Amino acid sequence: MLVPNDNWKIPPVQLRITNEQVHVWCAGLDQCESRIQQLESILSDEEQSRAQRFYFQKDRDHFIVARGTLRDILSRYLNRQPERLNFCYNEYGKPMLAENSGRLSFNISHSGNIALYAVTYGREVGIDVEQIRPDFAEEPIARRFFSPAETAVFSVLAAHEKKEAFFSCWTRKEAFIKATGKGVSFGLDNFDVSLVPDKPAALLSVKGDKKEARRWSLKNLDIQPDYRAALAVEGHDWQLQSWQWRPLEQITTFTKETNISKSDLLLNRS
Ligand SMILES: CC(C)(COP(=O)(O)OP(=O)(O)OC[C@H]1O[C@@H](n2cnc3c(N)ncnc32)[C@H](O)[C@@H]1OP(=O)(O)O)[C@@H](O)C(=O)NCCC(=O)NCCS
Repeated sequence: MLVPNDNWKIPPVQLRITNEQVHVWCAGLDQCESRIQQLESILSDEEQSRAQRFYFQKDRDHFIVARGTLRDILSRYLNRQPERLNFCYNEYGKPMLAENSGRLSFNISHSGNIALYAVTYGREVGIDVEQIRPDFAEEPIARRFFSPAETAVFSVLAAHEKKEAFFSCWTRKEAFIKATGKGVSFGLDNFDVSLVPDKPAALLSVKGDKKEARRWSLKNLDIQPDYRAALAVEGHDWQLQSWQWRPLEQITTFTKETNISKSDLLLNRS
């Protein structure tokens, strides 16, 4: 089982989210065969056929686990059966809940054997995780993907700072373009993020507009040493809660051991 660092707590069974909270979830994508089958059983027909189109078994299994876990997580907020949730997509491919009177927003990212999920209420959100590939943190790749201002900062960093800066920049940019819902169509050189190690994560400018940049907050997420992750959220008036994903029955066992009654645990499922 994936165990991220201590900041990631076991969630309560009854989940509530307000618009002053942002929840992020960390899940392991390497699951046992029975768990994969269980998660596959809650996917839609369209998701199951998408899974079947992956050439490698590992990619197929990771997609099933990532999507099944997304359904499981959202069902805990919505008090609905996970298989009854419907997704729709914007013109750039960002998934959203189809029937969403409650204004619950979410975003998902996966890399290596980790999936991260961000859930918000009434505000846009984007998340990105990347498994670190040291050979990737090179100047030509930075020039290709980063803005001119970011490339200029990156090029004068000391060699030992470059890996950290590269993946901070990459994940912050990805999280932001995912929060806007436009993905790479937003234009990677249309905005600047901070990247100097030990300086706070920040969106510095959007199309030269610092005021638009201040509408958004960026945050690093610590998971494991060989991963970097970032979160982009509309506004600044929110607090982060970080959860480790566990199947509901494992939380039941955990909370039983800590004397929380079973009836409390079941209230959240229809
Ligand atoms: C598709 C894209 C949104 C994210 O791609 P990615 O980083 O390779 O993959 P991630 O695992 O982080 O995110 C994929 C998830 O984002 C979601 N997503 C897809 N399109 C999205 C969009 N327009 N906006 C927000 N989220 C989107 C989906 O849930 C998808 O997962 P799923 O297909 O399993 O449901 C887009 O940013 C992209 O094509 N990136 C390519 C990489 C790149 O050039 N990055 C430059 C960084 S400087």
